[in-house]
Amino acid sequence: MSTSERPSVRRSSVRTGVVWDAVTARIEPGASVVDIGGGTGGFAVRLAQQGHPVTVVDPSPDALAALGRRADEAGVADLVTGVQGDLTDLGAHVGPGSADVVLCHGVLEVVPDPGAALGTIAGVLREGGLLSLLVAQRHAAVVARAMAGHFQQALALLDDPDYRVGAGGRGRRYTADEVIALLADAGFAVEATQAVRVFADLVPGSLLDLEPGATAALVDLERAVAGRSEYLPLATQVHLLATR
Ligand SMILES: C[S@@+](CC[C@H](N)C(=O)[O-])C[C@H]1O[C@@H](n2cnc3c(N)ncnc32)[C@H](O)[C@@H]1O
Repeated sequence: MSTSERPSVRRSSVRTGVVWDAVTARIEPGASVVDIGGGTGGFAVRLAQQGHPVTVVDPSPDALAALGRRADEAGVADLVTGVQGDLTDLGAHVGPGSADVVLCHGVLEVVPDPGAALGTIAGVLREGGLLSLLVAQRHAAVVARAMAGHFQQALALLDDPDYRVGAGGRGRRYTADEVIALLADAGFAVEATQAVRVFADLVPGSLLDLEPGATAALVDLERAVAGRSEYLPLATQVHLLATR
């Protein structure tokens, strides 16, 4: 089985395809990138392969070790820098106004003060620099809990962005309006908003694994609805591009 045929790779393409397309369509050649909470480097290494210098700031030593291995294997270790750090102390690792692009994917959910975190990101971006922000959306989580028969959890989630499902539950979930307001308060102008994973989490993994061509067709469908506002409330995640 080739790498691109592996189920995990196929599922990853469904989850990240829309975001990757939007970022790579907008990013300028050679632009410097800071990937805050970039983890094991799924985005960072691919961007480095396109010639971008990328700094990944992440608190997890394990994730940073995996990032280093991945960058080595891809032959881009010279372009990828891993730094152990936190969004709240980003300014200690990245100079003020120095980044062309900041990626903040799946992190605003876990910081204690999202408004302050966006202010910190604005501080390291150069004027006119680009923020790619990906956050968990509350509406889809309500639907998912209800469809699983957890009606009380769905009810609790409706209006409580911090409601956690179980002890290890994920952090804050946003509506698109909430995150757009937070961005405006931090001085960002939103350029684009798109729906991510509208169908992907509703489709059984076994269907994608067994049905030839199903993953590619699902990726096409996700692309087709990403920019349609009527699908935004159904999306597991909201992706925004914003400039400082
Ligand atoms: C859900 S994963 C997202 C990884 C990657 N950005 C992606 O979209 O696939 C969250 C990542 O954020 C990191 N993280 C957790 N708390 C953080 C914080 N306060 N500041 C920065 N990164 C954090 C975790 O170590 C993890 O790598």
